[in-house]
Amino acid sequence: MAGLRSANGVDLQVNIGALRFRNPVMTASGTFGYGEEFAGLVHLHRLGAVVVKGISLEPRPGNPPPRVVETACGMLNAIGLENVGVEGFLRDKLPFLREMKTRLIVNILGDTAQEYGRLAAALSQTEGIDGLEVNISCPNVKKGGVAFGTDPLMAAEVTRSVRENTTLPVIVKLSPNVTDIVLMARAVEEAGADAISLINTLTGMAIDIQTRRPKLANVIGGLSGPAIKPVALRMVWQVADAVRIPVIGIGGIGTAEDAIEFLLAGATAIQVGTANFYDPSACEAIVAGMAAYLEEQQEKSVRAIIGSVRCSMV
Ligand SMILES: Cc1cc2nc3c(=O)[nH]c(=O)nc-3n(C[C@H](O)[C@H](O)[C@H](O)COP(=O)(O)O)c2cc1C
Repeated sequence: MAGLRSANGVDLQVNIGALRFRNPVMTASGTFGYGEEFAGLVHLHRLGAVVVKGISLEPRPGNPPPRVVETACGMLNAIGLENVGVEGFLRDKLPFLREMKTRLIVNILGDTAQEYGRLAAALSQTEGIDGLEVNISCPNVKKGGVAFGTDPLMAAEVTRSVRENTTLPVIVKLSPNVTDIVLMARAVEEAGADAISLINTLTGMAIDIQTRRPKLANVIGGLSGPAIKPVALRMVWQVADAVRIPVIGIGGIGTAEDAIEFLLAGATAIQVGTANFYDPSACEAIVAGMAAYLEEQQEKSVRAIIGSVRCSMV
């Protein structure tokens, strides 16, 4: 990638492992389809990266409807990881993504640690994929359905399985549904992750008081959107302080101001999720707003502000 500067001359490039991104703004998995769905609405080449919907070994139909519900300042979803499967992805989705002139990160999910490894191997045999993001907020079928991302040993096992099967950069995406996020971050760093992204959705529920039934067919879903931003920011700040690998901040980011908060807290890059649904131009506006902020702050590079929050009371 050529040395890319924004229109006002500010350098927005960031590095994650060996990968250079033209700017720190990425789409969050599951909220941007396979990229193609947004191609008529967003200039994909202006984004730092597109992270696609989670891919499993076999296609999955997902959960029955209703699968999405609006909540105060957010939404609950129980899509159930519907996707076309790895073969369908490579055959039908990758050809478009390869041409889009921005970084492509493929999000993966599995039922066992071995499945994650097989997926990593399958996705590493082809050109055009720049990195893997490992969704560990999935049930481990061998351990009675406990999510991989809630146990440091299981999270490390998945990370190792992916690491051993690919030379691509491995980003492990943490679940916030834990007591100690730093413990999880350290476990995946030690197991070979090149970067950590966080947070995935927080588990939640909503009830229709007239029918006295849960609003989601699955009863429980994942909460996302502006409502979760303070929780996400706190976790990003804690993790960025505790690990040596880059951190990608996710959770309720809809504006440049939101994104900048995450960078100040220590994130090297950020992802935009739910905001894509109510404002498809959000990612591009964030890139422009970030450049304007840096110019106003007389910073020549976005890298200068990463982790520069002043927390001391003196
Ligand atoms: C409808 C929907 C589908 C999602 N699917 C995935 C997925 O397949 N894999 C994944 O790792 N995260 C998935 N997520 C989580 C998002 O990538 C993101 O971590 C979360 O929504 C928090 O960011 P936000 O508040 O900006 O939406 C999904 C979120 C939503 C709302």
